Amino acid sequence: MKRHRFHPETESVHGSKDFEKRNAPMAQPIYQTSTFQVTDSDQQLRATGTDMFYTRYGNPTHTAVESAIAELEGADAALLFASGMNAITTSILALVKSGDHIVAQRDIYGGVTKFLSTWLPKLGIETTFVDTTEYDQHERAIRPNTKLLYLESPTNPTLRVVDLRKAVAIAREHRLITLIDSTFATPINQRPTEFGIDVVLHSGTKYFGGHTDLICGAAVGRRELIDRIRGTRTTLGGVMDPHAAFLLLRGIKTLAVRVERQNESALRVAEFLSQHAKVRSVKYPFLKGHPERTLAMEQMKGGGGVLSFEVDGSGEDAKKVSESLRLFALAPSLGGVESLVSLPVLTSHAMISAEHRQKMGITEQLIRLSVGIENVNDLIADLEQALAAVVPAPQHVAVG
Ligand SMILES: Cc1ncc(COP(=O)(O)O)c(C=O)c1O
Repeated sequence: MKRHRFHPETESVHGSKDFEKRNAPMAQPIYQTSTFQVTDSDQQLRATGTDMFYTRYGNPTHTAVESAIAELEGADAALLFASGMNAITTSILALVKSGDHIVAQRDIYGGVTKFLSTWLPKLGIETTFVDTTEYDQHERAIRPNTKLLYLESPTNPTLRVVDLRKAVAIAREHRLITLIDSTFATPINQRPTEFGIDVVLHSGTKYFGGHTDLICGAAVGRRELIDRIRGTRTTLGGVMDPHAAFLLLRGIKTLAVRVERQNESALRVAEFLSQHAKVRSVKYPFLKGHPERTLAMEQMKGGGGVLSFEVDGSGEDAKKVSESLRLFALAPSLGGVESLVSLPVLTSHAMISAEHRQKMGITEQLIRLSVGIENVNDLIADLEQALAAVVPAPQHVAVG
């Protein structure tokens, strides 16, 4: 863990600047180039391994964003990828070999469940899924060949919160590398390296970008681990386009103010829904009644901008509500300035088995909301009118 130079709001704006006075552009230049020319073979040799060799290896625009993300997370180094899935799969592949074993929480992004359960076995790497907050199960699942403990917190879309201290203690006892998908939290709400997590992963497509206009991922952590992951990225080739990296840096400048607004609004929306007659349950880490609320409030600065709720009705009713919303656009993804709604059974967790979904508590009635930066009263009014679309089933009154 590295010491922070500034508060998160300042780090968001200034990223990794050195503050030396010089004549220079205020905005990060885009090195829109696939390769870098050198004057002679000696220079060519020197360029290898730098960010001015060939863009699959690195690029100065990437370096600027990577330093900004590392600073926000309080880590030695960060690495950009072409997508969040690319960051996750490349990082895992970099850290395991055939014959190794992984322990992973059950409540994780569906794409990662699919990678761990159907792709990695082809390479001779097995995963045991454990109940997300049952730490005894984590411990029992560990084998002599276990190498990684894979976590996500808060979880998508059930908003469960993992006790990072407990998970790290288990991992350290068994010499496992810990990886966490911290997409929902962002470094504004949670800094897993402060709890001893080794590698922090993000779908930067979400809050880092913040404007629903790019796809990217990031892996952040100790330099030695990030260097191993970098070597695998270079081989597998999942780099970001430099222009998109420029947009990403622009998004990061407003990360803190966006997330603070989203924290406040999402809590208000969660409170509204929890009082609504047509809502069966609401999942939001900072909402009273959430099973891990105390832990969440201790580990996180805010509950984040995503919540989910179950309609008191059928799967068809959930569809009706999501289709009736006007300000919340019906689309997968989250973390942007505009509010989105999706049904996890059709989107984030459509690719995994119904049985696995059931174990995660992802029902047909579950609706996920990503709260944007609009006025929260407008958002609540939108939900009010959409929930009015769920008409209670007619009561059959027995006539005696
Ligand atoms: C928590 C989480 N992790 C990872 C991903 C994958 O990210 P990407 O779509 O950028 O590949 C997603 C995508 O929805 C996600 O929600």
